[in-house]
Amino acid sequence: MPAAERRLGTLARVKILVIGSGGREHAIIRRLAADHPAPELHAAPGNPGIAQLATTHDVAVGDLDGQVRLAGELQPDLVVIGPEAPLVAGAADCLREAGQTVFGPSAAAAHLEGSKSWAKEIMAAAGVPTAASVTVTALDQLGAGLDRVNPLGDVPFVVKADGLAAGKGVVVTADRDAAITHAEAVLAAGGQVVLEEFLDGPEVSLFCVSDGTRVVPLAPAQDFKRALDGDEGPNTGGMGAYSPLPWAPEGLTEEVLDKVARPTIAELAERGIPFVGVLYCGLALTSRGLRVVEFNARFGDPETQVVLERLTSPFAPLLLAAARGELAEDTELTWSEEAAVTVVLACAGYPAAVRTGDPITGLETCEALGAHVIHAGTAVVDDALVSAGGRVLSVVATGADLEQARSRALAATEQIVLEGSHHRTDIARRAASGALGTS
Ligand code: AMP
Ligand code: GLY
Repeated sequence: MPAAERRLGTLARVKILVIGSGGREHAIIRRLAADHPAPELHAAPGNPGIAQLATTHDVAVGDLDGQVRLAGELQPDLVVIGPEAPLVAGAADCLREAGQTVFGPSAAAAHLEGSKSWAKEIMAAAGVPTAASVTVTALDQLGAGLDRVNPLGDVPFVVKADGLAAGKGVVVTADRDAAITHAEAVLAAGGQVVLEEFLDGPEVSLFCVSDGTRVVPLAPAQDFKRALDGDEGPNTGGMGAYSPLPWAPEGLTEEVLDKVARPTIAELAERGIPFVGVLYCGLALTSRGLRVVEFNARFGDPETQVVLERLTSPFAPLLLAAARGELAEDTELTWSEEAAVTVVLACAGYPAAVRTGDPITGLETCEALGAHVIHAGTAVVDDALVSAGGRVLSVVATGADLEQARSRALAATEQIVLEGSHHRTDIARRAASGALGTS
């Protein structure tokens, strides 16, 4: 295929390999499949939902050699790496060394997600606003550290494991003893602890696609991190999401680009660590202004489900341009006016303990209500669909406004039968009713 023809992305059919097995990868593949012409899609290892749209290959997410071998056989135009673990482990580096065109940062750049303390260092160097923090490496530093980030003890304590923890390494608690217990557990496991100043205000996730120098933002979304309604219960990987954010201040995306995404990408580039992929900016809109809560080095899950649902521009050409270092800064993506909401159905015990192997039924009834089901943690055993992960399904619905989308997503979720499963019923409720905030 001639290069110019490929670059246009509208004439030729490209071949894409997506690495991952979760809801995010299913959503990416679903959106790629909607491009014209639809790409030839492959996934490794994929999941039962992905298998309906792509050829799946039995190569585990952690098997970097296997991925290089598979890509060598398939000769795709593009490899998209979905999850953080292979990125942090160097999957993009291995694939690039083997001559592949890859959407996803190198291990060095993905360290932005792999180490919260390094992310803080980069933000400090780039002048990016974030919570004040202290990194603690030993028990005897804990008390002084907590006093430094929360001198009056009048707001919650924020205690984070420094490394990857699938969204579950963070404890936000008013109880100093509980804060200390979590920090002790992280230290005892051999990790470092990052103590942070508490950030008030609603959270926003903004995905910024970068080719290492230029940055193109997607539409903002909001994620619901806590397990239970009313933002109660432990932190999870995300229990639901919606987009757009009708309450977001005008100019929010531009402000995030100017104050956060561009300076971070520039700082990394200056250090010789170009970031190619999605810089996920997790933000708090505090009473004192915009602050970064966290960076991730990939699309968010479940935010991707709602953001890509609304993307009307071709998707494969965007990822290809970033992977090739040819992103045009003036790329203007187009978005559906409709609202999208996703409700995550989690298995019994999630997030503390995960029970798998339970049969799942009711998907047809769910989809008959106009929603679609993204598979996050499922498997087929003896021809039956069963749960295979903590977050099992992500039910996505659209509507003329958030209220319509959320009531459709909720009604559809309630058709699914999975013993012991739970989901939140308040995703996007406050936003739909016109109130600012996180629920
Ligand atoms: P993280 O893994 O760093 O994104 O943290 C997970 C969740 O914990 C965030 O989405 C917030 O809801 C909460 N959180 C993290 N850091 C802070 C902070 N400094 N202040 C308030 N809440 C926080
Ligand atoms: N939904 C939060 C994340 O993907 O990290």
